[in-house]
Amino acid sequence: MVNNDKSGVLVFYVNGKQIVEENVNPEWTLLMYLRTKLSLCGTKLGCGEGGCGACTVMVSKYDRKSQIIRHYPVNACLAPVCSLHGLAVTTVEGIGSTKTKLHSVQERIAKAHGSQCGFCTPGIVMSMYTLLRNHGKPKMEDLKVAFQGNLCRCTGYRPIIEGYKTFTEDWEVMQAANVMTKENTNGLNRCGMGDKCCKLQNGTTSTNGINGNHEHQNDVGKLFEPSKFVPYESSQEPIFPPELKLNDTYDNTSVMFKGEKLTWYRPTSMEELLQLLLQNPGAKIIGGNTEVGVEVKFKQQFYSCYIQPAMVLELNQIVVSNETIRIGAGVTLDEIESTFKTLIKIRPEWETRICQAVVEILHWFAGKQIRSVASIGGNIMTGSPISDLNPIWMAIRARLHLRSISGNRTVLMDEHFYTGYRKNIVNPHEILESIEIPFTRRNQYVYAHKQSRRRDDDIAIVNSALNLVLSESLQIEDINIAFGGMAPTTIAVKKITQLIGQKFDEKMLENAYQLLLDDLPLSDNVPGGMVSYRRSLALSFFFRTYLNISKQLNVPIDPKDLSALDKFTSKPSKSSQYFQIVENEHVTDTIGRPIVHTNALNQATGEAIYIDDVPIFEKELHLALIFSKKSYAKILNVDLSKALAAPHVVDFILPEDIPKDRQTCGMMGDEEFLRRDLVTSQYQVLGGILATNQLSAKQAVNLVHVTYDELKPVVSIDQAIEENSFYSFEAKINTGNVSEVIPKCKNVIVGEARTGYQEHFYLEPHAFLAVPREGEEMEVYASSQDQSGLSETVSKLLGVEQNKVVIKIKRIGGGFGGKETTGRKFACYAALAARKTRRPVRLVLERDEDMGATGGRNPFLVKYKLGFDDNGKIHAAKINLFLNAGHSADMSFAVAMHGTAHITNSTNIANINVISKVCKTNLPTNTAFRGFGNPQTNFAAECMLREVAEYLNKDYVEIARLNLYKEGDLTIYNQPLVDCNVRRCFEEVLVNSDFFQRKQAVDKFNKENRWKKRGIDVVTTTYGIGFGFDAYQQAGALILIYKDGSVLLSHGGVEMGQGLHTKMIQVASKALNIPVEKIHTSEASSDKVPNTTATVASMSSDLNGMAVKDACIKLNNRLEPIKAKNPKGSWEEWIMAAYNQRISLSATGFHREPPVNWDWATNTGDKMFNYFSFGAAVTEVEIDSLTGDHQILRTDIVMDLGNSLNPAIDIGQIEGGFMQGYGLFVIEEMVTLPDGTFASKGPGAYKIPSFGDIPLEFNVALLKDSSNPRAVYSSKAIGEPPLFLASSVIFAIREAIKAARKENGVNEYFRLHAPATSERIRMACQDYITNKVEPVNSTWKVNYL
Ligand SMILES: Cc1cc2nc3c(=O)[nH]c(=O)nc-3n(C[C@H](O)[C@H](O)[C@H](O)COP(=O)(O)OP(=O)(O)OC[C@H]3O[C@@H](n4cnc5c(N)ncnc54)[C@H](O)[C@@H]3O)c2cc1C
Ligand code: FES
Ligand code: FES
Repeated sequence: MVNNDKSGVLVFYVNGKQIVEENVNPEWTLLMYLRTKLSLCGTKLGCGEGGCGACTVMVSKYDRKSQIIRHYPVNACLAPVCSLHGLAVTTVEGIGSTKTKLHSVQERIAKAHGSQCGFCTPGIVMSMYTLLRNHGKPKMEDLKVAFQGNLCRCTGYRPIIEGYKTFTEDWEVMQAANVMTKENTNGLNRCGMGDKCCKLQNGTTSTNGINGNHEHQNDVGKLFEPSKFVPYESSQEPIFPPELKLNDTYDNTSVMFKGEKLTWYRPTSMEELLQLLLQNPGAKIIGGNTEVGVEVKFKQQFYSCYIQPAMVLELNQIVVSNETIRIGAGVTLDEIESTFKTLIKIRPEWETRICQAVVEILHWFAGKQIRSVASIGGNIMTGSPISDLNPIWMAIRARLHLRSISGNRTVLMDEHFYTGYRKNIVNPHEILESIEIPFTRRNQYVYAHKQSRRRDDDIAIVNSALNLVLSESLQIEDINIAFGGMAPTTIAVKKITQLIGQKFDEKMLENAYQLLLDDLPLSDNVPGGMVSYRRSLALSFFFRTYLNISKQLNVPIDPKDLSALDKFTSKPSKSSQYFQIVENEHVTDTIGRPIVHTNALNQATGEAIYIDDVPIFEKELHLALIFSKKSYAKILNVDLSKALAAPHVVDFILPEDIPKDRQTCGMMGDEEFLRRDLVTSQYQVLGGILATNQLSAKQAVNLVHVTYDELKPVVSIDQAIEENSFYSFEAKINTGNVSEVIPKCKNVIVGEARTGYQEHFYLEPHAFLAVPREGEEMEVYASSQDQSGLSETVSKLLGVEQNKVVIKIKRIGGGFGGKETTGRKFACYAALAARKTRRPVRLVLERDEDMGATGGRNPFLVKYKLGFDDNGKIHAAKINLFLNAGHSADMSFAVAMHGTAHITNSTNIANINVISKVCKTNLPTNTAFRGFGNPQTNFAAECMLREVAEYLNKDYVEIARLNLYKEGDLTIYNQPLVDCNVRRCFEEVLVNSDFFQRKQAVDKFNKENRWKKRGIDVVTTTYGIGFGFDAYQQAGALILIYKDGSVLLSHGGVEMGQGLHTKMIQVASKALNIPVEKIHTSEASSDKVPNTTATVASMSSDLNGMAVKDACIKLNNRLEPIKAKNPKGSWEEWIMAAYNQRISLSATGFHREPPVNWDWATNTGDKMFNYFSFGAAVTEVEIDSLTGDHQILRTDIVMDLGNSLNPAIDIGQIEGGFMQGYGLFVIEEMVTLPDGTFASKGPGAYKIPSFGDIPLEFNVALLKDSSNPRAVYSSKAIGEPPLFLASSVIFAIREAIKAARKENGVNEYFRLHAPATSERIRMACQDYITNKVEPVNSTWKVNYL
């Protein structure tokens, strides 16, 4: 028994070093401990809820029973530090560093271009490292499983997989096969491109760089060279701490850690556990803390006592007998999976049908990090209505063994177990000891299903398990079906038992549908919404199970129905990247070469510093903000009394702290820094609390009590239209004569297209650190895309000149537009608090705060009327466009203009009238987001083309070709298209992708398969590059050359993963003719280059690159005479000579773009953009029309980038942009409630694409022989243009849905708005199952924003 009077000493190992902590705070997570106490900041905080993997570390423990060391990945953000007692932790710093030796896991991700902003990188490195520690030679499928719990928002995942593929057995086999094939093809390496292999095309090889699956061992110009990787040596890995292996004291000793508010117990026996439970009423049993950790952090739950039964034998063993498997409640899901897999191997198939169902479901249960620690007991006791395993336990009526000091009992997991939402029949003084499940009988069948928004690591929309016993004559002897997601608890449906006695045949199937519908009513406003979808899923699952069992029993089924059986699974992906190799003479000329991101190695080793990694300053305070919880309300009172009395609280900020004349802010001056009387959206800031540590500040904010008088909010675009809630601004373009031409057109249609909200989901949330310096000086370290904007806003708020406010931005963990204007206010809060307290103040937003407060991509509604002829040529369009801005304007007027300008995408429409209105709603302010209105309106343009094609019953490609821009065409704002490559991209991608041949194959597939349908489609993009506003089109640079010849390069751009610093260094290196290694860029800082334009609009390379070149030219001119005197001298000699001759070795550079002249007010002018980027993509998908699930089979992209400055970086932008666009058009749904609440405020509920979502084949080609005289070294802007190409996925999905509908005789035109969620896909595939379910317009959530 533990000594209750004295707190124990926590002992664990980190990177081989013993940590002895005498005063541990049990409230701390491992992540807090690593970052704050040990200054190991390589492990990042991306979400704090186990959903992003940025905090992944490896935990190792010695299993005394099996005598093996177990390594597993853990989310440090959820693991309580006390749970590590007696264990060993390895962080990214522990495996290698740039200063000593890189680990090959770090080297390969960096050199394969798998690290852009780098914030996700350490977590991904640690997932891979853990995999390698467990399997020296993993398989490709292991790789995908290892990354299920990691997210990356920048790279699009492909390069990470390519880099890490080189560790796999499959890769070695492929290499060996390549060598053999080479021998069989007279020295030519054949590849995945088959006959299209460039080696077989006359001489094109020399101009193409090829990578990925398209392997050619001796090719120059690969994006990276695997043969140069340092081989992986498993024998070099650090050893497990011998003390932990030899000494079992840590395992056998009961411990107690006492903190200020929370006490942690770890008993070693059942008896001790039960006593502790009795002595500490309300104590929380802790398994993996994956549920409790989230409750405490995000749901403001507090518990004063935790009991961790990790050392209680009965709870941590699996006992297999002849009839049953008894699993201790503390056993982790991973352990269950591995035991069940063994049982499946060694026991007869029929006996392990429950095990098979469990293993299948576990694959889709969370990610590896969660499964490694989450316990089965935690899952059962949480009683989530969407638990993935509970339906199985309930369907088979598992036995649950409960223990308490007063006795033991065994209960059935049946319809009586859960008594309400997250409530069950277990008494507070009882614990769940174990769950007992039987082996199945020969005539017993168990199947489980799950449907979620995203396949990997997502919670279920609906899940279900069926347990069926059949007689020999196929009579149903017993049936039990349980569902998750259909009620506040997991439920076992009752009426279905009426099937007992019926024959297992199609007649029974029909009866079952009706019984299920009767059993599963859902009201219109049921939480979760999706009423019709959820009910139809219930029927679909039953149908699939029916087919499964029929097949197993050889009951005849229609062969076309067989396609219902296969579910999509993660499959290895392949890819190729084509780029033109430049024949540079000089080694110093790296322009056009795929050099590695200059920060990649620092990022991969965890040495790269982001704002929250800046070491803590003396006397530093943490600021936590008081956010509005109402969307539209009068503020009656803000009571800080409890918060200010909380421990470690030092001060606060309120509106009173800002002088009256400085209280407004926002791009259009329509916001207030701190709200005093009224809130017009949730997450507006009312004030802030300052404490000496982050946890205390956050906890104190939860004690602030705000009283509101609520008003009725406007949330959606439709509501705004209904209530005439608009900003006074309108963007208009009127070209030609629409009112005259439309009536003359033979065909006229009206339609609409909608796109939803998208969250930026940069991996690093907003973070700021304000440090008051001498007098009025203030230094702010910021995660922002805009140092000048920040310096302007902060200086105004503080009432000082801009020369006293220095903004420093080393790098940011992704931005995508979300850190352009949005961060300004947050920087101000930190600066205000720093000014008030005269102490450094750190403000780091939590993921939910960031998602709630910083807005995202504006949802759009585009209504169109088109006039066209019988060939499909569109002659006129009248368009009304609406976008949801939220409660303040911010950038939405500019987004409206950019969207309006791009409303036809690549389509030439001579007569057009567009009016764009900006809706004012009570939502957080939407803002800039990669594409800036372009993807939304381009989507509408593509919808228009397809509607015309379908109206005329013509092929889309024919209609697209007819209307596509060509050289010299005028845009709708009269700008002539020069070097218009869109047709080239379009035709090339059709050829590269074998479009027409594959379309035929798709048609054939669709004829043969009833429940799986394929679709293939093509889209283009024509993207205007420029701000359309002269003042923004300027840039500055500063180059300092030191006496040793090293060069410090500063420019106006921010590094956010897009490789800007790398490209700028390449530009300077070419211009100065020195190696890139001589040049360093430290940060973006407002005291180096003033009045910079934000790093946005894809223009930063164009603008800053020219400024850098300008500075280099000045320096070259100064050095010219010195070089002339000593032509054979070295750079260092020339620099020293220049110094001795007192020649200035620093220069500023400046660039301004030629003016643009489109005037929105008068609708006149002939130039809005500097030039255009073009591209085209073909995507083929397969959908599961039973469930709405889908898989991208293949994507081919051709992108015109002029002469790429760095193909690796540019291809990374294309792939990353594509995956982000895929999120916008297909996966990401911000569920919003009618009162304006965002229901998706973290990775748990808001799903961005993950590793498992990348196209199974992904081919990217840069258009050959294109150049661009209008940007630095003939390159083109890249950040935003490719994003829209991902709409090829939604259009391919729409084609597949069309095929499903056609098969069911539904031929009318239908609209598929974005995102095409599984719900929308399924409900659009109308068939006899959906027809059985009444259509319900769910009132729980807002359908379109
Ligand atoms: C990122 C993420 C993804 C997830 N994905 C899924 C998913 O796909 N499917 C799904 O079903 N769930 C998912 N979950 C939920 C969660 O992981 C599971 O419910 C998990 O099994 C909980 O186990 P735990 O050991 O971590 O529970 P804990 O958080 O430690 O405990 C949960 C609850 O169970 C109680 N408890 C634990 N053990 C006992 C016991 N022996 N006796 C009595 N009470 C006990 C605790 O007191 C607590 O109330 C996810 C969670 C996260 C954070
Ligand atoms: S920070 Fe831990 S999973 Fe996101
Ligand atoms: S590189 Fe992965 S999130 Fe930025």
